[in-house]
Amino acid sequence: MNKKLSVKNLSTYFYTSQGVGKAVDDVSFDLYDGETVAIVGESGCGKSVTALSILNLINPPGKIVSGEIIFKGENILSFKESEMSKIRGGSIAMIFQDPMNSLNPVLTIGDQITETIQTHKNFSKKDSKTLSLDLLKRVKLNNVEKIFDSYPHQLSGGMIQRVMIAIALSCSPSILIADEPTTALDVSIQRSILDLLMEIKKESNLSIIFITHDFRIVKEIADNVIVMYAGKIVENRRKKNIFDDPKHPYTEALLKCMPPIDAHKDRLPQIKGNVKNIFSYSSEICRFYERCEQSADICKKMAPERIKLNDYEYFLCFDFKDNLSN
Ligand SMILES: Nc1ncnc2c1ncn2[C@@H]1O[C@H](COP(=O)(O)OP(=O)(O)OP(=O)(O)O)[C@@H](O)[C@H]1O
Ligand SMILES: [Mg+2]
Repeated sequence: MNKKLSVKNLSTYFYTSQGVGKAVDDVSFDLYDGETVAIVGESGCGKSVTALSILNLINPPGKIVSGEIIFKGENILSFKESEMSKIRGGSIAMIFQDPMNSLNPVLTIGDQITETIQTHKNFSKKDSKTLSLDLLKRVKLNNVEKIFDSYPHQLSGGMIQRVMIAIALSCSPSILIADEPTTALDVSIQRSILDLLMEIKKESNLSIIFITHDFRIVKEIADNVIVMYAGKIVENRRKKNIFDDPKHPYTEALLKCMPPIDAHKDRLPQIKGNVKNIFSYSSEICRFYERCEQSADICKKMAPERIKLNDYEYFLCFDFKDNLSN
């Protein structure tokens, strides 16, 4: 498998009057050519901060304190802002968690797509419009001329998400980062957006980093799965292996909470307790131990280290449970 992007020992902290919050703490993973890596975990575990760090979009009081993002053999975190802005929305595109707020309410959809195209490509106004209409068709919108002239508030959530995908595709990226692109949508619309993304991935050989808290989506779209807990990757596995043989108790707990398709929401099991506030994360012990059904004394005495399963897979736990037995 060829590596498309490597995240190496990435740490992003927030420095506030409450203290230092280690939102992303020594995170490493690879994205392979033509594959989808899903980042999964509960709210506040550092999924979005990881995605934003990849594109060097962390603003004060946040700071990327260490790590490298290797793309085409170079550490893009060392790039000057002018070089980085060519990559952003160019070879690496991102769909942000809150699509409505990523669009400018006072500009038409057409203005916003053509603006992105013109930032990255030397296209005339006419050619930018032609490409924009093609992109809107590609994401399966109807009446594209009308949508081109519409303002964001005139479109539904599902249509907006299709527009966001069109904008992301406008510069033919080789990597797409999609941060919970379907979470705010109705189930049936979620389905059609996921289908669209998977179709585009195949057609364009895109590699995708897909952020979600829903293991049902992971099951459908991922090749590789990264489970994050309290700023750390606790498990990094191929999809089949994570469902068949999860190693980390947090992964097991999340899988137990995975609702069947027709589940009644309020009857779902939940993991006891909550993710701690980032300012109370400890680097001396296991961050999950208070919520862990399998914890032992050692878990509150020292921090677990990565246990490597093979060249592609690892988890972060103690091996007292004979985790390496197979
Ligand atoms: N600008 C900021 N200032 C201080 N703390 C922040 C800031 N942005 C994020 N954080 C904190 O960093 C941690 C990780 O946030 P992040 O947005 O990455 O979570 P997430 O996994 O994407 O959650 P969700 O599923 O809710 O989107 C959280 O505790 C959050 O409160
Ligand atoms: Mg998020």
